[in-house]
This record gives sequence, C-alpha cells and structure tokens, in this order.
Amino acid sequence: MGFMGSFSFTDTVIKIRNRHNDVIPTMAQGVIEYKESFGIDPVTSQNVQYFLDRFYMSRISIRMLLNQHSLLFGGKINPAHPKHIGSIDPSCNVVEVVRDGYESAKRLCDLYYMSSPELILEELNAKSPGQPMQVVYVPSHLYHMVFELFKNAMRATMEHNADRCIYPPIHVHVTLGNEDLTVKVT
Ligand SMILES: Nc1ncnc2c1ncn2[C@@H]1O[C@H](COP(=O)(O)OP(=O)(O)OP(=O)(O)O)[C@@H](O)[C@H]1O
Ligand SMILES: [Mg+2]
Repeated sequence: MGFMGSFSFTDTVIKIRNRHNDVIPTMAQGVIEYKESFGIDPVTSQNVQYFLDRFYMSRISIRMLLNQHSLLFGGKINPAHPKHIGSIDPSCNVVEVVRDGYESAKRLCDLYYMSSPELILEELNAKSPGQPMQVVYVPSHLYHMVFELFKNAMRATMEHNADRCIYPPIHVHVTLGNEDLTVKVT
C-alpha cells in the first residue's frame, strides 16, 4: 500500500471534488424551475431556505476537507502562494483581503449604478498594537464573506440614496483581539 494507496486515495478525493463542481448553478436552476412550476408560498420558501442553509453548510465543510487534502497530497505546490498550507494562509493579511472584496464589489456597483460608495477602513490591533493584522485563515472564505457583505451594503447605500445622488461611505472596522477577529461593516 504505502505510496500507491495514498496516491489512489487522493485521486478518488479529486474525482469526488470535481464531480460536485457545478452543484451551485444546478441547485439554483432547480430552485428557479420549482418556483416557475409551483409558485412561491412562504411556508415552502422557509422550508427550502432551511434545507439549503444546512445543505450548503455541510457542503462547505466537506469541500474544505476534500480541497485541503488534494492541495496537500496532490503533488503540486501553488507557485502564487508558496507559504500557504493547502488553502490555509498562516499569516493572512485581513485588511488586504477586505480591500480586495471591496474593490470587486465596487466594480460591480460602478457597472450597475454608474457610481459607488467610498470605503473608510479603520483597523485596531488590540492583540499586538502597531503590528499589521494577521490571522491563520482561509483567505478565499474571508474574501467571499466580505464580498457578499459589500455587495449588500453597496446596494442598500445606492438604492436608499438614489434620489439625493450623494452616497455615504461604507465604514469597516477590523479589530483583532486575543480571542477573535471582528469585521464590522456599516
Ligand atoms: N446591508 C443591508 N442593508 C439593507 N438591507 C439589506 C442589507 N443586506 C441585506 N439586506 C436585505 O436582505 C436581503 C437578503 O440579502 P442576501 O444577500 O441574502 O440576498 P440578495 O443580496 O438579495 O441576493 P444575492 O446576495 O444572492 O445577490 C436583501 O435582498 C436585502 O433586502
Ligand atoms: Mg446579497
């Protein structure tokens, strides 16, 4: 077994991961078709929402493990991020990822609304004052979360202030404490 065993295990893991690559668009299409055929009623929507929340929650966990295994044992190192351990960045620069998420949401917002709110970012490193804020984290997950928050905040800002055409900035507070890290979007 030894080497051969772990090689075929990794192959199987990669095959499983790839087989489920298009679950999100397939599921979204299913929801659209369901709504077209049966309409929307609040009770069913709530049940579907409950199911999807749990379904995607466990999917994230399973795919995180599948992905981590195939990155670690798939035999390739990522030349763009040589210090990453699989998908984990041992010194993930939180503010940089937050700014990336803002820029992507801003591009969409500019395309759709022809304008976008500014970003005011404040950082407080209570753990090691004065030092850049770094945590052990999966940057892509952080990026997806802040991107979704920025899209929501931008849409709310643009539509709420549509008549005045003056758009207040989006404030972000990133705080690193001894126990946890907080990202607050206002
Ligand atoms: N920052 C916000 N301010 C005001 N309303 C919000 C804000 N964030 C979310 N909402 C409300 O909550 C709803 C659900 O948000 P959610 O992000 O789940 O979906 P969405 O933004 O409508 O669609 P998607 O994120 O899939 O593009 C939004 O449609 C909006 O009405
Ligand atoms: Mg949204």
